[in-house]
Amino acid sequence: MIELFRSLSDFRYFRNKVTHQSIGLVPTMGNLHAGHLSLIEESLSENDLTIVTIFVNPKQFGPDEDYEEYPRTLEKDLQKIQMFQRTLPLPAKQLVVFSPAQVNDIYPKNYSTTITLGDVTTKLCGKSRPGHFDGVTTVVYQLFSITRPQAAYFGQKDYQQFAILSRMVEDLSLPVELEMMPIIRDENGLALSSRNQYLSDEDYSQALYLPQTLAELQNFIEGRNWEDVSKEVEKIIDQKIFDPSWDYLQVLDAISLEAPTSISTQVLIAAAYRIGKTRLIDNILVEVNNA
Ligand code: PAF
Repeated sequence: MIELFRSLSDFRYFRNKVTHQSIGLVPTMGNLHAGHLSLIEESLSENDLTIVTIFVNPKQFGPDEDYEEYPRTLEKDLQKIQMFQRTLPLPAKQLVVFSPAQVNDIYPKNYSTTITLGDVTTKLCGKSRPGHFDGVTTVVYQLFSITRPQAAYFGQKDYQQFAILSRMVEDLSLPVELEMMPIIRDENGLALSSRNQYLSDEDYSQALYLPQTLAELQNFIEGRNWEDVSKEVEKIIDQKIFDPSWDYLQVLDAISLEAPTSISTQVLIAAAYRIGKTRLIDNILVEVNNA
């Protein structure tokens, strides 16, 4: 059985007694899929103790977003982790789950601190989800304080989130290493997401247009000189974003998240695409040849 803590006081009691050499944190909002399991696998392989947190963070949802409906599937999540751990060819390592039953275990009464970063939080997803990244940085900072890990694992699907959290760790000199794990896709190329389950069969077929578009741009850009392709890329994007389903479709320098330049070596092709009320995000990292 997986050790589960549903209250901060129980978790704190456990954490204060931990003497493990290394602790890995996998922060999640639950409804786990193979993408989350890949983060857990990496943490288990690198640490003596892995802490998985499951907490649907109200601060990162806008007023019209799906906080109330967000799937809460704790029992299934625990079973998935347990079954997955049994399949791993790793020596048994300790894994615990912290899933506070009360939101005020994370945000106690009179809680009033927000971690806010600059410009990087207002572009891409931040543009149509104002305040979203403040909610993410605030909860992740809180989870770092509570769990005190040496390493924390996140998925590339949320590339902007990873860039923002890396900035926060550097700016605040937090003693934690962040690791980004590759996107896990289904057999048709759709990036796994807890929100995919909102899609009907028809929506699902339409959703495949998202990874297909990214792959089309990747084929066009990869290995080429950015200055040679940038005009054509702009044209391709302009033709596509006529369709209001695109929240954004952009090619950016992978490090600065600004427009690529003649010294960019890697670009990020990133997009958010709406199908009905469901908003999906995806991205690809592509090497360019600016030698
Ligand atoms: O990526 C997520 O699932 C969430 O944004 C995170 C990092 C768990 C914070 O709530």
